[in-house]
Amino acid sequence: MDGHFAHLAKPLTIRGKTLKNRIVFGAHTANMAENGLPGERHLGYYTERARGGAGMIVVEPVPVHRTGVLTRGNFRHDDDAVIAPFRRITDACHEHGTVMVQQLYHVGQHGDSDLSFAPHWSPSGHASYHDSDGSRAMRAHEIEEIIEGHVQAARRCQEAGFDGVEIWAAYHSLLEQFWSPWSNTREDEWGGSLENRMRITTRIFEAVRRQCGEDFIIGLALSHGPSTPFIMDIEGYQEIVSIHDRAGHMDYVTCGSGSYLDFDQIIPAFTLGEKLGCTMSRAIKDVVKNGVVTAESHIRTPENADAVIGAGDADLVSIVRGQIADPHLASKALDGRADDIRGCISCNQMCWGRRSRDYWISCLINPSAGREFEWGGDRFTPSKNPGRVLVVGAGPAGLECARVAAERGHQVILCEASGETGGQFRLAGLQPRRAQILDLLDWYERQFMRLGVDLRYHTPVEASEVAGFEADHVVLATGSLPAGTGKQRWLPQHEQLPGLENGHVWAPEDILRRTAQAGARVIVLDEGGNWRGCGTAWYLAERGHKVTIVTPDAYVGKEITRTSADFQVRKNLVKSGADFLTESVITNWHGNGATITSLLDGTQTFTAADDLVYATTNVACDELENELRAVGQPVHIIGDCAAPRLAAYAIFDGRATGNLL
Ligand SMILES: Cc1cc2nc3c(=O)[nH]c(=O)nc-3n(C[C@H](O)[C@H](O)[C@H](O)COP(=O)(O)O)c2cc1C
Ligand code: SF4
Repeated sequence: MDGHFAHLAKPLTIRGKTLKNRIVFGAHTANMAENGLPGERHLGYYTERARGGAGMIVVEPVPVHRTGVLTRGNFRHDDDAVIAPFRRITDACHEHGTVMVQQLYHVGQHGDSDLSFAPHWSPSGHASYHDSDGSRAMRAHEIEEIIEGHVQAARRCQEAGFDGVEIWAAYHSLLEQFWSPWSNTREDEWGGSLENRMRITTRIFEAVRRQCGEDFIIGLALSHGPSTPFIMDIEGYQEIVSIHDRAGHMDYVTCGSGSYLDFDQIIPAFTLGEKLGCTMSRAIKDVVKNGVVTAESHIRTPENADAVIGAGDADLVSIVRGQIADPHLASKALDGRADDIRGCISCNQMCWGRRSRDYWISCLINPSAGREFEWGGDRFTPSKNPGRVLVVGAGPAGLECARVAAERGHQVILCEASGETGGQFRLAGLQPRRAQILDLLDWYERQFMRLGVDLRYHTPVEASEVAGFEADHVVLATGSLPAGTGKQRWLPQHEQLPGLENGHVWAPEDILRRTAQAGARVIVLDEGGNWRGCGTAWYLAERGHKVTIVTPDAYVGKEITRTSADFQVRKNLVKSGADFLTESVITNWHGNGATITSLLDGTQTFTAADDLVYATTNVACDELENELRAVGQPVHIIGDCAAPRLAAYAIFDGRATGNLL
């Protein structure tokens, strides 16, 4: 330890268990269970973060009851069969000195009948904010069932070797639904007075303590969103927490942001600010005398984390996505290698973006997340045949492949035709609030310095030149380019945008690279519903252009929905004066405006504009591949030159191919 991050480095003991530092890998549904049991994927995932130095890991929540099953990858809620496989995880993580806790959850009225096949349960039968269902006002015996569900789940945790459990009252979950007079309108002993509304958590704390004993950690998860004070204000949480704190069973409180009512605040994308749980953690710290307090939510970096603790806003910090993106964040920070941390870019694309669609989670910039068991963690084995590797193209695929090959002992030459790394990903980093992408590109360049990768700018590679590199492996990562035609998927009968010849038609790349100067009024034709179109529209709107987005989708940012950032991007677009024309195509571009046709009823309207930007699907740059194959040169094809896709798949290709060489 070189004296950096002194606050983070300080150990902390809870119920006789010592956290070796203040960095927590907080609870998140990794959704990796198979047949309801934690398997190899989970084992590899958590062990890698324990190896990477996390002081405490809060393992993915287990539903406490059949009505609380939320995902396909949830653990079995009522079956001792989970104990043995969890024991493998706790044993493996304990070997690295990590304190192990598991979250216990029930989402109450915001359930998911697709997975539970049960009515949602809640204190007062209010509507779900997750789907269009109503819920069942729980009868007294059902409340007892839920309390017992927590106790039995805690027992299983203890038998599986966990050091504690985290009781989940965050995000307007079942327990918070009981606390809040807004969602608890009962008139029996479970509603009305504060004592009655808190009875369920009081009973759970007491019963879990009785079941698991004095050495067992019991935490409490809370969250708060400033836009939902009607659930409860900060003083309300302070009052409840201080009562539980005085009772002496609650060992820590972890404070996140948002709820089912403002979901985008829970896992804040780059569209939102940082350190969102700190207002609440500060307020809770003011009232807690026995327990300790954790701050969560977009703390992201060790610099932020150390500052949070230094300022007295919390005793512990949870960094979830930061440790998904770099499982060794804690040890790198505390060993004086913070520059080596691959910083999460807050995109939510492969973590929440996969969980929200009920797949197991991974990471855009760290494809080993979830594949640790197959790939040996986020680490590398030396190549059996170290040799010379030529990588052509320094976009995300080429960068990752070059890095991995070099890590594995190859001598790597990375040729880039332009004067900078990143390709289209760098352009994405120029869109509003996306500069974390540029930080990632800087990280690659630092890694190349460390690894001795020979990065050659302004070096386009012709087929005839490849043999001259005398490479043992040739990897093509030549990317993709805009089609140049403006062809629309929903006008399949037209090979190109009708009226393309009238000019003033650009690709997002032209705008972001500033090779095109758009006029005051711009139409953005967005077929992808993702950042390529929406981010470019936002970039233009922020600069004062009057933007009209035309999309065949039912709403703008459809593909961003999976990341929970779509609402924020639409909000920002509307604030910047953008208009939306949905379920529409452009049937004619006139050079000074477009005829826009509704897909619903064929109605045609004219929108005046100086320029048109088409965010349609790119085409692969695969000429070099064809030329090299023609002369019998073996090649690996990665990233967009294999097929134009999201950056996540380019980085995946880069890692997977680098692992093979
Ligand atoms: C994929 C994913 C799933 C999550 N699931 C849960 C969950 O089951 N319970 C919970 O309390 N928080 C959950 N969270 C929220 C995190 O605990 C954390 O508050 C959030 O990611 C913001 O913190 P971060 O910026 O450090 O990632 C989840 C987060 C992610 C990324
Ligand atoms: S997918 Fe994006 S937000 Fe999620 S951990 Fe990876 S970089 Fe961070």
